[in-house]
Amino acid sequence: MRKNIIAGNWKMNKTFQESVDLIHNLNDGIDQGSLTDKRIMVAPTFVNLYPSLLESKDSPVEVIAQNLHEEDSGAFTGEVAAPMLTAMDVKTVILGHSERRTLFNESPELLAKKVDKALEHDLEVIFCIGETLKIRKTENHYLEIAGQVRKSLFHLRAEQWKNIIIAYEPVWAIGTGLTATPEQAEEMHQFIRRIIEKKYSSEVAESTSILYGGSVKPNNAEEIFSQPDVDGGLVGGASLNAEDFLAIINSI
Ligand code: 13P
Repeated sequence: MRKNIIAGNWKMNKTFQESVDLIHNLNDGIDQGSLTDKRIMVAPTFVNLYPSLLESKDSPVEVIAQNLHEEDSGAFTGEVAAPMLTAMDVKTVILGHSERRTLFNESPELLAKKVDKALEHDLEVIFCIGETLKIRKTENHYLEIAGQVRKSLFHLRAEQWKNIIIAYEPVWAIGTGLTATPEQAEEMHQFIRRIIEKKYSSEVAESTSILYGGSVKPNNAEEIFSQPDVDGGLVGGASLNAEDFLAIINSI
């Protein structure tokens, strides 16, 4: 059965020492007994991955990457490839974040290649999807989400879905303090599960974790996470300090 996941996306925040300290404080604060059915992840910047991995060794906090390049190596200045991540024992990567899509022009087709590359190297993928406010206002959000899933993930074989986690992150809720209501989140998560079921099977749909992201905070996490199709969260701002992130972890 699918697991609950709380993942912190640190984006372009935290120095070397701040990253190590935050992981240290999370390790100190996590109630290990509560972790039988949930996973905790944090995604530091590339440059802080290795010290973060060392700090999290033998701890329940999984250190994951924020992105990767679609090729294994080559003349791509400033980029990071999948084999570099797996060589450090990184096991999971975030792909398709709306900031990558909009600020760095990552298209659904490019993201399909990145997903393939990650899976080729046995990396698990947290694949982000989400609609803008304009799309929601014109009531095209279901169409948009279905398109994002279809274009980047529906070429996969059913057995590859064991390494796919979806993060539904409405763009209008990211870093804005606006959150989808628990009902809006549940409706969309149900819809995503239904389209996976239709394309593959109920087994694939039921075993895929679907996380919610967008202004998850200690004061709204419990209500959102209590929805039956919400299997945890991808947290930005509130994952940057141990107290808030631990409160969110404890609310599932
Ligand atoms: P916020 O929690 O800061 O809204 O960010 C969400 C997000 O983008 C996680 O990937």
